[in-house]
Amino acid sequence: PASPEARDRLVLGVVGGSGLYEIEGLEEVEQVALETPFGRPSDVYTVGLLPRAGGLPPVRAVFLPRHGRGHVLLPSEINFRANVHGFKQLGVTHLLSVSAVGSLREDIAPGDVVIPDQFIDRTAGRAQTFFGGGLVAHVQMGDPVDAGLARRVAGAAEAEGARVHVGGTCIVMEGPAFSTRAESNLYRSWGAHVIGMTALPEAKLAREAEIAYALVALATDYDCWHQSEVEVSVEAVIAVLRANVALSRRLIARVAAGLPVSTAELPYPRALQHALITDPARIP
Ligand code: ADE
Repeated sequence: PASPEARDRLVLGVVGGSGLYEIEGLEEVEQVALETPFGRPSDVYTVGLLPRAGGLPPVRAVFLPRHGRGHVLLPSEINFRANVHGFKQLGVTHLLSVSAVGSLREDIAPGDVVIPDQFIDRTAGRAQTFFGGGLVAHVQMGDPVDAGLARRVAGAAEAEGARVHVGGTCIVMEGPAFSTRAESNLYRSWGAHVIGMTALPEAKLAREAEIAYALVALATDYDCWHQSEVEVSVEAVIAVLRANVALSRRLIARVAAGLPVSTAELPYPRALQHALITDPARIP
């Protein structure tokens, strides 16, 4: 059996969005190809060690590019279950998700960093759960983001000189087409702040896997509601993203440097603890 130290060891997962296909500063790097009961993840995982501040031993970090290297997967084609299952297999306890988003508010400008604390699911037809097939369970999603991880990420982004918006609601749409103007205005009327295509079902699956989750949403455009702007285009998104990739790499390094060694030091969310609904008669 694992020692208490090994059992409580904090492992940082990073899932990279458009533009972020590798992270920097990893040592003792290993590429790990995994199969899961849910199929194959988006790419091989890059596993290594990131330096930690204060003379602490380095943190184990696991990176996966969500769209695959070379950006070959549409949001609808990503096997989110396999991706999260792979992170779990590799011992990840905290998952930092990086994603390009459109802004639904004037005060969130392209280039800004948003750390959302809520999501609205506008995806369609994606596999949303590891459960089913006789295993019935429901997890809590009232607070889908780990507040502690989000605080660390926001602090790191501010320390890197970014304009940071802490909190906010992220709409997750199916894509790949961007929203119509009516949809964009509808989401604004709902009070949403940003819109992307990938944070769900990722956050739900991370919760089911008992992995703490936080999203670094990099605003790349004003979506189509913003009539004074040119309409959102892939070129504009990629141009802003390129400028933001360096920032997100520095941010990941800074978050890693400040992490504690053990999850025992954290108010780790155990959302499944009271959330498993199953027939007691069928528990062996
Ligand atoms: N990702 C980046 N910009 C986006 C937008 N405007 N809508 C949805 N996803 C996005």
